[in-house]
Amino acid sequence: TGYVTLDRGYKNTGATKSAITFLDGEQGILQYRGYSIEDLAAKASFLEVAYLLIYGELPTKEQYAQFENGIRRHTLVNEDMRKIFDGFPVNAHPMGVLSSLVSAMSAFYPDSQDEKNDPALHIVRLLAKLPTIATWSYKRSLGHPTNYPKNNLDYIPNFLNMMFALPVEDYKVDPVVAEALNVLLILHADHEQNCSTSTVRLVGSSQANIYSSISSGISALWGPLHGGANQEVIEMLEAIKADGGDVSKYVDMAKNAKTTGFRLFGFGHRVYKNFDPRARIIKKAADDVLSKLGVNDPVLEIAKGLEEAALHDEYFIQRKLYPNVDFYSGIIYRALGIPTNMFTVMFAIGRLPGWIAQWKEMREQKEPIGRPRQIYTGATLREFKAIDQR
Ligand code: CMC
Repeated sequence: TGYVTLDRGYKNTGATKSAITFLDGEQGILQYRGYSIEDLAAKASFLEVAYLLIYGELPTKEQYAQFENGIRRHTLVNEDMRKIFDGFPVNAHPMGVLSSLVSAMSAFYPDSQDEKNDPALHIVRLLAKLPTIATWSYKRSLGHPTNYPKNNLDYIPNFLNMMFALPVEDYKVDPVVAEALNVLLILHADHEQNCSTSTVRLVGSSQANIYSSISSGISALWGPLHGGANQEVIEMLEAIKADGGDVSKYVDMAKNAKTTGFRLFGFGHRVYKNFDPRARIIKKAADDVLSKLGVNDPVLEIAKGLEEAALHDEYFIQRKLYPNVDFYSGIIYRALGIPTNMFTVMFAIGRLPGWIAQWKEMREQKEPIGRPRQIYTGATLREFKAIDQR
């Protein structure tokens, strides 16, 4: 009470202690539970990383089998959820649909309301059902029937099968595609107290149920300054291409962001001030995946040219603005056949284990309800006037 420190955007305010993710913005270091992101991206499976984030240790074989089997058994989504889904307009943005349906899960699993209940099953349900729900939007946008999960498939192949399998042919998962997705999901899996994660913790701190908390995180992620940037990047690169490919024109526009209102999407980060280690891995992966798949995407060259031009520009150098995780990820998603309006959904599938881990930690640490203060700048005491005297 009394004395309030103002920190707009929480640039310097720590809201919690956390043992999940370590991030050093000066050195470009990112670690989950002490394991480097480079090591995990090269060697781990996404579900191993999910387990690591949520439970604190890499799983043994037995622990992994149990975790994975639990997820396999819960991939089906209640058919009544379909009725809610069917009520959305066909062109609804998949992020709006996803956050709504995750929120709806709280109504299907009302025991999640009781905060004394063990959340283990809800955690499994979320991990299992999010990919299923995500694929509905895409299938419907094509006018195709949705695919049920096939639980003989692993997590990522199951998702790809629901996305891309057609009734007329056998869909075979390309291992290059599955591996590229594995890396992308791992790179997105957690990022300490970012906007969506802080939202999940804040909502959860009121003892709201896990589905409502995660649904709020999905909504926060959707914004173009956060996860929504991956869709914006591709739209920006396509606009540059359509405009003749002159990247310097766009660098100039971004330098005058104050007057043009135009920012380079996929550039800059609140914490990383030298490079974003995720962007480094993704840039390399983009070259690799496109060449393995034999995809030639002219937008990749535009992205590289834009990065080059920006990195040599005084404006970007002074402000320490570098490509972030969203700059090259969309180029890979495109090469995998994932449509632009699903990019942020892919981010959400990747970030889900992080949100869950952070929600669980918040509960276990018995964090008090999150409640920032303010500095009041409004009117001082005034006398009420009846409406006919105003
Ligand atoms: N293009 C042009 N100028 C920029 C950009 C950009 N992308 N990013 C920051 N700036 C300028 C900004 O105008 C400001 O200039 P000045 O000092 O003259 O006022 C300075 O750099 C500092 O920016 P800020 O907005 O105060 O920094 P922030 O920490 O509040 O914002 C950010 C971080 C990521 C929101 C911001 O860099 C941005 O809007 N980037 C574009 C959107 C984007 O790519 N978001 C994805 C972030 S990473 C993954 C994720 O969270 O999903």
